Amino acid sequence: MAMAQDELKRAVARAAVAHVPADCIVGVGTGSTANFFIDELGKIKHRIRGAVASSEASAKRLQGHGIEVVSLNDAGSLPVYVDGADEITRHLHMIKGGGGALTREKIVAAASRKFVCVCDASKLVDVLGKFPLPIEVIPMARSYVAREIVALGGQPRLRAGFTTDNGNLILDVLGLSILNPVELETALNNIAGVVTNGLFARRPADVLLLGTENGVQTLTA
Ligand code: 5RP
Repeated sequence: MAMAQDELKRAVARAAVAHVPADCIVGVGTGSTANFFIDELGKIKHRIRGAVASSEASAKRLQGHGIEVVSLNDAGSLPVYVDGADEITRHLHMIKGGGGALTREKIVAAASRKFVCVCDASKLVDVLGKFPLPIEVIPMARSYVAREIVALGGQPRLRAGFTTDNGNLILDVLGLSILNPVELETALNNIAGVVTNGLFARRPADVLLLGTENGVQTLTA
């Protein structure tokens, strides 16, 4: 099963390379599917100028391939951002942050003109929320934010022993059936102490490359 799933991830990572324009700085996500994409980028590294990474882990892997990692402030607006997701709908709304990199992912996605999401078929869902929704919080606000989330109907759990690249904590929220992701994303953003939530709905993906048994399917919103 895991092997077969890895083959699907590799297939979508390969397909994503076609969305990378020549001579560009490409935005790169985080996670096992993004890692396959980084490995594919390594093969075409002479065709790109560099990459902006959404995590320290991805920056390291890019550098391991000899790809120059550029800061977002130096890169400016990016033509394309390629990343995975924990769940995605046919509207290309996503839950992200399983790897805890959601804040930098949301920033790099926001600064990119096109978001290409790369997923194996297991990530496609009708309604978001089975996967616990990650929320990055400022440490001193953890308990307050958790109470506010309970008031919204969720069950927050502190991700034990985990600190984000930004020095913050993650609450993983169970029990939400997310029928209106745009509205919930905004409501969660308005809780004091929340840095970022893992709903990517206000800025959804533009293209989904979905790895299936029958090949890579391309979906657009
Ligand atoms: C990391 C993320 C990843 O995109 C998400 O967790 C999917 O990872 P994988 O490709 O390993 O399933 O949001 O913060």
